[in-house]
Amino acid sequence: MANIVLISGSPSKNSKTASITNQLQKELIERNHRTSLIDVRELPAEDLLYGNFNSKAITHTHELIRHADAVIVLSPVYKGSYTGILKAFLDLLPEKIFAGKVIAPVVTGGTIAHLLSIEYALKPIFSIMGAKEILHGVFILDTNIQRNEKGDVFLDRELEERVESLLKAIERKEPTI
Ligand SMILES: Cc1cc2nc3c(=O)[nH]c(=O)nc-3n(C[C@H](O)[C@H](O)[C@H](O)COP(=O)(O)O)c2cc1C
Repeated sequence: MANIVLISGSPSKNSKTASITNQLQKELIERNHRTSLIDVRELPAEDLLYGNFNSKAITHTHELIRHADAVIVLSPVYKGSYTGILKAFLDLLPEKIFAGKVIAPVVTGGTIAHLLSIEYALKPIFSIMGAKEILHGVFILDTNIQRNEKGDVFLDRELEERVESLLKAIERKEPTI
């Protein structure tokens, strides 16, 4: 059993990325992992906007991440990169907090043309934050995210397989972390 933190980085109320996050969390729980969710949208906006390093809500997230074996970071692509709210949050984390953890990016986007935002936007910041083990990650086109009224997500088979591979990759790292 691994301790896995999910960081969901969309500011949107009816967020597709958040639906994916919830689905992944459910699947991890079914696989007997311990999980914690950090929904950046739920953190105090003023603390994020004014860079309040002493915010209790933010320092609590430090503890969750410190105790994690793996962190899944989820963001929509906004203007070719990850979201500003996610950056505001990451800026408030201790510099090398991802050291010794497996980091897995999951990105949703409107065009496959921005697939590489994982490589040129997210992975460098994970590295700056001390990550040495950054998994390949998954890019999900927003048109492929089907949801029912309860918020359950349905992905096509190919995407399901890519998500499954990501979860297995996290689990394969488990004994070494
Ligand atoms: C402000 C804004 C900027 C966006 N910029 C891009 C972009 O540059 N590239 C892209 O592929 N999709 C872009 N999109 C589409 C979103 O990435 C996509 O719809 C995503 O799944 C939305 O996730 P969310 O519902 O969790 O916010 C943008 C959407 C918004 C609202």
